Amino acid sequence: MTQITIDPGLKKAISDYQLPETLGFGNVMTPVMASCTYEKGKWGPLELLPYGPITMYPTAKVLHYAQEIFEGMKAYRVNGQGPFIFRPEENYLRFNRSAERMAMPHIPHNIFMDSVFELVSYTANFVPRRSGESLYLRPFMFATEESLGIKPAEKFRFMVIASASGSYFSNTSEGLSVYIERENARAFPGGTGFAKAGGNYAAGLSAAIKTKQLGFVQTLWLDARERKYIEEMSGMNVFVVINNELCTPKISDTILDGITRKSLIALARDSGYTVHEKNIDINELIEDIRAGRCTEAFACGTAAIITPINYFGESDGERIPLHFPEGKISMELREKLLAIQEGRVADTYKWIATV
Ligand code: COI
Repeated sequence: MTQITIDPGLKKAISDYQLPETLGFGNVMTPVMASCTYEKGKWGPLELLPYGPITMYPTAKVLHYAQEIFEGMKAYRVNGQGPFIFRPEENYLRFNRSAERMAMPHIPHNIFMDSVFELVSYTANFVPRRSGESLYLRPFMFATEESLGIKPAEKFRFMVIASASGSYFSNTSEGLSVYIERENARAFPGGTGFAKAGGNYAAGLSAAIKTKQLGFVQTLWLDARERKYIEEMSGMNVFVVINNELCTPKISDTILDGITRKSLIALARDSGYTVHEKNIDINELIEDIRAGRCTEAFACGTAAIITPINYFGESDGERIPLHFPEGKISMELREKLLAIQEGRVADTYKWIATV
């Protein structure tokens, strides 16, 4: 049993809160957060608090050595049903895989699940109800131990915050354009690329600036050894459709094992599509697009859902447009996935947990 303490100010924070009409992604935080601290080898009680600033010492190790991990998950309440949470066990398992890689303690199953489920039940009224919108949940853990020595911390804080969210991409009126990053690398064999660690994303931000300056929306990372095989995008996995078959990079220690990615593979196969998980050579892919064999490509992730790619491009301004920039197979799969997540069709996969 998890020991849960409820902050006395929480009731008022919830009753005072109003969900704005326009959401965007990750800006509209709902009024509750969950928090649990780890010290002397033990997790303390789970607290539900009004959403607000947190304090820590300037020497907290996370601020210096980036000992931090996180997850992204969603709760749905379309047409007032639910709330439903999509595949929370997968997030729990991945969180602890990330924790191991970053020398952090495992979070017990009951603390992870109770944080998420309690937070969603307290904020059920703030889960958006329009299809494509959801309550984005962000569990995260960071090192709070106050000391500048480089060694694994012994004090941590685990938190869950929630944001009423719409589309991840705000600037895709012309479609999702993807810059092929041939210079920098995001992850290397033996490194932390498979972990959902904040540092992986920080390392991609200078490429994000270049991507934006060149007029693209997302960065496509290539493997660090040869800069030849596509890996993932800045915060999401990638699929391409070649000769009507789906292909996506094979999971390795440099690629995040996406939950949307694995759900889509199952959905696509059950819808009669062939799906290959394999190395995809960027130059062969460009040839396949030019020759009309590769007709569409798309990003997928918890935040991104499934978003078709309009064109790939290079630093010299060259653009390689996809034949179906608005997606075809991708949009069919997006609708199938959302229908399950939003509780609009029977969940034969048992992916949905009801709060
Ligand atoms: C997610 O899809 O949940 C992520 O963590 C990616 C991030 C770009 C928002």
